[in-house]
Amino acid sequence: MRLTAELHCHIEGAAPPDLVRRLGARHGISLDGLFTCRGGYAWHDFTSFLTAYDRAASVFRTPEDYADLAHAHFAGAARNGMIYGEVFISPDHAASSGLSYASYVEGLAAGIARAREETGVEGRMIVVGIRHLGAQAVERAACVMSEEPHPLVTGFGLAGDERVGRAADFARAFKLAGEAGYGLTAHAGEFGGPESVAEVLDCLAVSRIGHGVRAIEDPALVSRLAGEGTVLEVCPGSNIALGLYPGFDRHPIGRLHRSGVAVTISSDDPPFFATTLAREYAETARAQGWGETELDALTRTALHAAFCDEATRERLL
Ligand code: ADE
Ligand code: ZN
Repeated sequence: MRLTAELHCHIEGAAPPDLVRRLGARHGISLDGLFTCRGGYAWHDFTSFLTAYDRAASVFRTPEDYADLAHAHFAGAARNGMIYGEVFISPDHAASSGLSYASYVEGLAAGIARAREETGVEGRMIVVGIRHLGAQAVERAACVMSEEPHPLVTGFGLAGDERVGRAADFARAFKLAGEAGYGLTAHAGEFGGPESVAEVLDCLAVSRIGHGVRAIEDPALVSRLAGEGTVLEVCPGSNIALGLYPGFDRHPIGRLHRSGVAVTISSDDPPFFATTLAREYAETARAQGWGETELDALTRTALHAAFCDEATRERLL
């Protein structure tokens, strides 16, 4: 089995539809219209995807619900070869479910620990602020994680609708999290053009960028990414599902790689995009003509860029 590592997956976006149905019924939450007749999530563009994401997230109401979610994600991916995974977690989604940050993180950590006991998989969490909720909400997320540290919470990031606000609006939140010692990443260059990637590099001091693929539209920016060693968390299936590119064969990951940019492969929100991490590796390999050597290098690049302690990194490399 191919060994994989993942840097970019939203925990609520990894929720298996069966689990969401079960918890929806348990908590008496109507999920009308959330699913297609084939059992997947129903959405048709980025805005409706974000709405479906919020509705699926709304069924997780207790720490045990989040433990079951983290366990399902990590144990499932580990059975398909994942040895290390980071997940984005959102205190704002937990608050909408009536849960404190501490209860949310404890629940998720319990699920990660259970998956580790069963499979050996290592997991870490990255708190994200949701940019369309505004700069203040993103700062609150950076504050709460700094005030209530947890050993498995090792990074800070920015998700949500990239079309809202500018990177500079979030500079204070990133400064706070960076000074508290967290690894930094931000979504950019997904729906925003190459200028959104440059702004994140200029304002947020990140070592990684979520997606970043639209940097390919600006050769000078591609050289900058390669020169600065910024790692891209590339999610090809997500980009294709959301209409950025028509298929794996036309995805720019190969061109970015050949230009010297450090690329990794992730699944983003796997059941929403009918994918898995193993499938992302396999389809990218097929489309790019990459073999075991190139795929192993992707896993090693992810481990080098991971927001984990050196002992864990060394053990996995
Ligand atoms: N939240 C969940 N998935 C996302 C994506 N692909 N882009 C931005 N925010 C997200
Ligand atoms: Zn994402």
